[in-house]
Amino acid sequence: MTPPDENAISSASPANPPESPPPHSSDAPVAHVSVLLQPTVDALMDGPLGISDTGPRVFVDATFGRGGHSRALLARLGPQDRLIAFDKDPAAQAEGARLHQQDSRLTMVHASFAELSSQLAALGIAGVHGIMADLGVSSPQLDEAGRGFSFMLDGPLDMRMDCSQGLTAAKWLENVSEVALADVLFEYGEERYSRRIAKAIKHALPLTTTLQLAEVIRAAHPRWEKNKHPATRSFQAIRIAINRELADLDSFLQQTPAQLVPGARLAVISFHSLEDRRVKQFIQLQAQPPANDHPFAVTQTTQKTLRKVARIAPDALEIQHNPRSRSAWLRVAERV
Ligand SMILES: C[S@@+](CC[C@H](N)C(=O)[O-])C[C@H]1O[C@@H](n2cnc3c(N)ncnc32)[C@H](O)[C@@H]1O
Repeated sequence: MTPPDENAISSASPANPPESPPPHSSDAPVAHVSVLLQPTVDALMDGPLGISDTGPRVFVDATFGRGGHSRALLARLGPQDRLIAFDKDPAAQAEGARLHQQDSRLTMVHASFAELSSQLAALGIAGVHGIMADLGVSSPQLDEAGRGFSFMLDGPLDMRMDCSQGLTAAKWLENVSEVALADVLFEYGEERYSRRIAKAIKHALPLTTTLQLAEVIRAAHPRWEKNKHPATRSFQAIRIAINRELADLDSFLQQTPAQLVPGARLAVISFHSLEDRRVKQFIQLQAQPPANDHPFAVTQTTQKTLRKVARIAPDALEIQHNPRSRSAWLRVAERV
């Protein structure tokens, strides 16, 4: 387990975007309020390439969601510019296809952002002028009971972002060993009672719905944190595991410097310390690579590829309007 990161999100901050009761009936479409919208767009566009470069530019939104950031970026792009948006969620894809009908500068890619380089190459793109990612789940994913992400709404125990492939959470829980499950709960949920909860889950199988799982965790959890459902950490951990979130993030980050043209920016919004720590350490390593004679030099970057630009949190007004933003951090770096 990585030690707590004093410089990033405190371990007391919510490990998951807080779940608030959805303000709609289960049939109504769920909106997504984009987090750190203006700061992210400004960070991408206000770099050395943003306003000054008038030629055709290409930007990447690695996590389209419901297109909040993509729409704001398109509003700032010129008629010749392009936006390539990734999402592995079919519902996000459908929304992107609708937006493409209205604005052909947008190209939607139904793939993980871990395929950044190969997908851009397939589109014939060599060199982009900005890349952003807004990590984690969207509000529709969390608030639509049928997606199986929520411990507050009953639905099938699914939790896949790309529900067209891979194991559902229900199947994954059947396949994983008790020890491996406990490790996942500890590492990805920072759950202190991981062994006890893993044991209770394995004994309770088969579990088919979110509320069944939430109840097993609730009953097994010996110490509830204030204002936090006892299943919060475990649900986050299982979601991260079945969607390979951290492995995909690492792979994505590694590919960004080679895709960014000099002066182009990378902007990443993360929602918990496991993500933010990775983004921070990646930028640090790219900004200050070990010297050539350093023992890590053989396996790690030795050339400076990025410079740190900013680390931004939502202001009080944004947190008041959108409580889910309260654990967010935006980190910005620039290709040197
Ligand atoms: C927080 S939402 C993005 C919201 C978006 N910025 C907006 O304003 O509407 C995160 C989105 O990223 C997608 N996502 C998460 N991991 C992904 C990955 N590895 N590859 C592609 N999309 C991913 C999720 O399916 C989800 O739709």
